[in-house]
Amino acid sequence: MSNPSLLILPGDGIGQEVMAEVRKIIDWFGEKRDLTFDVSEDLVGGAAYDAHGTPLHDDTMAKAQEVDAVLLGAVGGPKYDDLDFAVKPERGLLRLRKEMDLFSNLRPAQCFDALADFSSLKKDLVAGLDIMIVRELTSGSYFGEPRGIFMEEGQRVGINTQRYTEAEIDRVARSAFELARRRNNKVCSMEKANVMESGILWRDVVTEVHAADYADVELSHMYADAGAMQLVRAPKQFDVILTDNLFGDLLSDTAAMLTGSLGMLPSASLGAPMENGRPKAMYEPVHGSAPDIMGQDKANPSACVLSFAMALRYSFDQGAEADRLEAAVEAVLASGVRTGDLMQADGGKPVGCAAMGDAIIAALEASL
Ligand code: IPM
Ligand code: MG
Repeated sequence: MSNPSLLILPGDGIGQEVMAEVRKIIDWFGEKRDLTFDVSEDLVGGAAYDAHGTPLHDDTMAKAQEVDAVLLGAVGGPKYDDLDFAVKPERGLLRLRKEMDLFSNLRPAQCFDALADFSSLKKDLVAGLDIMIVRELTSGSYFGEPRGIFMEEGQRVGINTQRYTEAEIDRVARSAFELARRRNNKVCSMEKANVMESGILWRDVVTEVHAADYADVELSHMYADAGAMQLVRAPKQFDVILTDNLFGDLLSDTAAMLTGSLGMLPSASLGAPMENGRPKAMYEPVHGSAPDIMGQDKANPSACVLSFAMALRYSFDQGAEADRLEAAVEAVLASGVRTGDLMQADGGKPVGCAAMGDAIIAALEASL
């Protein structure tokens, strides 16, 4: 059997340097765990624009469709702020999501014990926090038509459309219920059924899918604004949060901040199963390209490393090795080794991105 394939797209800003650490870890799994991947690398975002005049070359898109999983670093940066909308770095990422049909975006917000003090909330509210946000990723107001800026009665009008079909809600709801069964069996679905028809349909379809096939899972509904409030009031009440594309964008950043650092959070974007039974998949850290610290060996590679751990779990059936890698990251944090994003004002000297990667590898070695 051939090795599983992985396309690496480091992208822009700190994407390059965090991915270099992940590559060391991938090599480690090849050498020490007999888990070898066929790794290829390509450009996305501003880096692709610089080389090809487009944030995602068609060849890269085609490769992404063929591999078992894509691992992406980050896209964007001030250098590209003035580009036309159609070729902005973000368009490359959105094209990957859309054309691979990665409708289910898993964003864990997990508070590592060693970092509970870094949260903007009181420690007892966040210690032990473990939420999974399931964000619909290929529809809603990010993609709905009509969209654009039009002239109307002598003035410009900006239009985006919140649009969801039953089938789109159904499939992402199923992925949330399936996930809940493997966790604490609770789903809270968030929309604005009080003001939006798309929210009414969302609530109805989620309720129907639940009644038909997932009655064993505890289901609740919340208006998304109330959900945002509850998320900062008492976040531990949640297990899986199911929501649409735009609300999910906002709620996942809120949830991320509860954990103390964006530099720790991975994500998985999953589509329908391919011929080999694996879901189409892309994995990426939740943090952005952080141009202010790029190229200075200051970035925290953990989120990208943990994204690879999610790939091991969801794409490669290597749950035990994913556990090993997650435990290694936790052990490094517990030992007090921290990158700059995790330091407090009176903290010790932070380590750099490469040293953090080395520390994770040392913890992996120690796990053998
Ligand atoms: C995210 C990001 C993206 C989004 C941007 C970079 C297009 O904020 O993944 O949450 O809005 O989805
Ligand atoms: Mg976002």
